[in-house]
Amino acid sequence: MTQKRVLIAYGSRYCSTAETAGKLAEFLEEEQNLTVSLFNLRKGKEKSWPLLEKQDFDGIIVGTGIRVGKWTREVKQFVKINKKAIKDTKTLFGFFISCGYASDPKYYPIAKKQFLEVKFEKLGFFPDIYDAFGGVFDFSPTSSLNIIDKQILKWGARDLVMNIDYIQRNDYRDWKQIYGFASRFETTLNSTYSE
Ligand SMILES: Cc1cc2nc3c(=O)[nH]c(=O)nc-3n(C[C@H](O)[C@H](O)[C@H](O)COP(=O)(O)O)c2cc1C
Repeated sequence: MTQKRVLIAYGSRYCSTAETAGKLAEFLEEEQNLTVSLFNLRKGKEKSWPLLEKQDFDGIIVGTGIRVGKWTREVKQFVKINKKAIKDTKTLFGFFISCGYASDPKYYPIAKKQFLEVKFEKLGFFPDIYDAFGGVFDFSPTSSLNIIDKQILKWGARDLVMNIDYIQRNDYRDWKQIYGFASRFETTLNSTYSE
């Protein structure tokens, strides 16, 4: 059986989604024997983005961080322009978000609904596999967040259950959940989507 090809395309403002996408790529290549191309949508111009209609990929995973309820502009655009290709081909489509709300079990279903399902409802189609992952709250001195972003994040986190340290980096990603998502993706790709 030839190795299946997977594209992981992501949009990340403060690096956590970029890191998660990298770990997913590593896991899918090393543990699940897939060939993975990792693509940062914020780096290249739209013209340089991978074309999906050519069906070069058996599966696609798209990931985005959330800022004030929004995906990155590039992820929104990428999904929009590739909607037809994703819908019309057999390509398995996975999607994930990384966000603060998904770090708290009480708010996780709200994050999944508001930041993911509602948006796909508006787009008129759904990913085959999707999930909301917890995020990173980086208040450390080396953080990439500016002072305003830190204030917005602090204000947004006020009702969350976690004991956030407002002078440190707090990482609320659940790697078991993330690798579970990757395993589900691989199993589906190699069963339903095999020739
Ligand atoms: C300015 C700012 C606004 C944010 N807004 C939200 C939000 O509306 N909902 C949420 O769940 N998380 C929110 N977050 C948390 C981020 O989604 C979380 O830090 C995530 O890990 C960021 O992903 P990235 O590092 O890939 O950009 C916000 C973070 C910042 C800094």
